[in-house]
Amino acid sequence: MNTRIFNEFKKRFGAGAQLYASPGRVNLIGEHTDYNLGFVLPAAIDKNIYVAIKPNGATNSRLYSYDYEMEVSVDMNGEKPEQQWACYIYGVVQEMKKRGAKIDAFDCVFGGDVPLGAGLSSSAALESAVGYALNDLYGLGFSRQELAKIGQMTEHNYIGVRCGIMDQFASLFGQKGRVIRLDCRSLEYELFPFEPQGCRVVLIDSMVKHSLASSEYNVRRSQAEAGVAVVAKHVPGIESLRDVTMEMLDTYKNEMDALSYRRCAYVIHENQRLLEGCEALKKGDYEFFGEKMFGSHEGLSREYEVSCAELDFIADIARHTDGVLGARMMGGGFGGCVINLVKESVCDAYLDDVKSRFNHQYGQTPRTISVVIGDGARRVEIE
Ligand code: GLA
Repeated sequence: MNTRIFNEFKKRFGAGAQLYASPGRVNLIGEHTDYNLGFVLPAAIDKNIYVAIKPNGATNSRLYSYDYEMEVSVDMNGEKPEQQWACYIYGVVQEMKKRGAKIDAFDCVFGGDVPLGAGLSSSAALESAVGYALNDLYGLGFSRQELAKIGQMTEHNYIGVRCGIMDQFASLFGQKGRVIRLDCRSLEYELFPFEPQGCRVVLIDSMVKHSLASSEYNVRRSQAEAGVAVVAKHVPGIESLRDVTMEMLDTYKNEMDALSYRRCAYVIHENQRLLEGCEALKKGDYEFFGEKMFGSHEGLSREYEVSCAELDFIADIARHTDGVLGARMMGGGFGGCVINLVKESVCDAYLDDVKSRFNHQYGQTPRTISVVIGDGARRVEIE
């Protein structure tokens, strides 16, 4: 894939491009906790967005999407482009300029093998790849953490999703064989080995594109914030759900609407599940960790209500299959993938079973994606 992107650049814009990569991510546990300033446990994967790029000395930048086979010319000092995919690049440039960067016009070609719309954060991979590339190319001096914020703010200000920082952080900080426990309040992180012997991490795509995701996502965020605001009226020093305990939530339950209560309860429990899960990882207890993944799915489905019938269907089969240690919907929800932690010995039979039962129920066969935990954003040398 990387050579294809590089060669496409050469064909369109000539020689001399530099090539960069930034990966998609999985999240083992800790969903919808990042913007509530809790914990997440993502990892970068071995699937990337590649960006070939070179300054062009012109007024406009020329951007080419390899997957959409479309080129647009964009004045980075002018209006936002029409195409959403171009807005990701335009947004990153604007966010860098706000922070004092000087960026001359450039040509770029991008594409990769992160499946689109499957909840693997192809958009964060693109923002991170472009951010990392511009930072290196123009010597801008941003840290990886600043690049993650630049990507996140691109989503807020140019795409309209008030997302947390998990996806961009994972794409920039990922390391082979490691999951990242990120504290989304302090942005301190710890790397944990994730090498379950005899197990595989497999994604099963519900084949539902998460189109509701951006609008409902923002609604969930507001509902959680509304719950926090009620508690904050009574308890000093409450700034986010991170500061709220179940006891506080229960004390002021009657003053908030039922939905806000449920959303907040889910987040408090999910943070607990994650912290307990990490303790289990330290001991190599993947069975216990898997139980927490199932618990996370339950919460996402019933309390946070971001699942859908297809995801629940898959998670339910997982729950009742021996050798599936854990499974849960992953990412923003309303579609995308179920992440499974499965014993090698039963994996093929389990996947066949899910495929045939899903097909019987929904008339199509879900795709399955095996992932290996890989490295974060980097420059790529082409021989
Ligand atoms: C999306 C967002 C993340 C995070 C997840 C849910 O992937 O981009 O910031 O909130 O949803 O955990």
